[in-house]
Amino acid sequence: MIRTIPVGLGDRAYDVLVGPGLIDRAGEHIVPLLKNRRTVIVTDSNVGEHHGERLAAALERAGVAVDVITVPAGEASKSFEGLADLSDRLLALELDRGDLIVAFGGGVVGDLAGFAAAIYKRGIDFIQIPTSLLAQVDSSVGGKTAIDTPRGKNLIGAFHQPRLVLADLDILATLPAREMACGYAEVIKYGMLGDPAFFAWLEGNGEAVLAGDVEALAHAVARSVEMKAEIVTEDEREQGRRALLNLGHTFGHALEAETGFGEALKHGEAVGAGCAMAFRFSARLGLCPDIDAARVEGALKAAGLPTRLDALPQGASFHADRLIAHMGQDKKAEGGKLTFVLARRIGEALTAKGVDPAPLRDFLISEGALS
Ligand code: GLY
Repeated sequence: MIRTIPVGLGDRAYDVLVGPGLIDRAGEHIVPLLKNRRTVIVTDSNVGEHHGERLAAALERAGVAVDVITVPAGEASKSFEGLADLSDRLLALELDRGDLIVAFGGGVVGDLAGFAAAIYKRGIDFIQIPTSLLAQVDSSVGGKTAIDTPRGKNLIGAFHQPRLVLADLDILATLPAREMACGYAEVIKYGMLGDPAFFAWLEGNGEAVLAGDVEALAHAVARSVEMKAEIVTEDEREQGRRALLNLGHTFGHALEAETGFGEALKHGEAVGAGCAMAFRFSARLGLCPDIDAARVEGALKAAGLPTRLDALPQGASFHADRLIAHMGQDKKAEGGKLTFVLARRIGEALTAKGVDPAPLRDFLISEGALS
């Protein structure tokens, strides 16, 4: 069964389709969006190798001309160099504004191809076919596109909404367990920030989701996308409620920065640990009941996600002041003050601006960071 989730953004409205078999039927979903019967698939070396021909064949069956651009797999492609290279290859193919870019991959491909689409000839349409759980439930929906610079991640980018998102659940069957857990951190985050019933459902069904049970996965992805769509519709440019999607991200960002933004600690794992810390910090500040912080920790642990500093790589050498310095550099920081997404309870997050570093430092030390 295919579920359709509308993202109600007026003349930029689009649908997210969630279900099995969407890649093989991509042609029928894409053709109505085409001015010309021409697309360029942008994919990476991993996804392209395993699934590229299948997607190209599906589009060709629908009478759509296809070119494929493959970028190297990995975060390094999300750079000015990667963007220049991709833009040049799009220009060499003489792509024009009536054509369409298909971003086919995980978050890196979606962010890079989406940003290229935002600026290529001042903007060209694109669609997202996300191939990781994390991209399906988060980065492919909502129009944030960006590249990294040596000064930080996602600092140069644009809001550019896709025309369609196809979240094919079949493709998740080949995802390594660690990648599934990373995506699951973003799934359960939706429960933590705004839907206590969904959180409770995940406490009972998380194992089935992670094991790839089709019904459980369909519900988890669809509910996550529904929540993201609702929030983005209300606050497309992150002036208010959209910031709640950053639950766990300020702590997580600091942990990623200290561990080198790489394989040692993946983004989803950092978000998981960050959510556990955000709930414990909220409890310590008296905002949130201890029992909620304990439930959050339990649910993340059950998914094999780290929840405490001592479970992280370099567990013994996190320094409180260094972590706080990274938090200050997070692009969500405003005017030197620290902004956190904290929680009143499971299902009710809030944005706390101007958080005082002193109790934060005490908290980090209580978590095992060095003073
Ligand atoms: N990933 C957070 C957002 O899209 O706002």
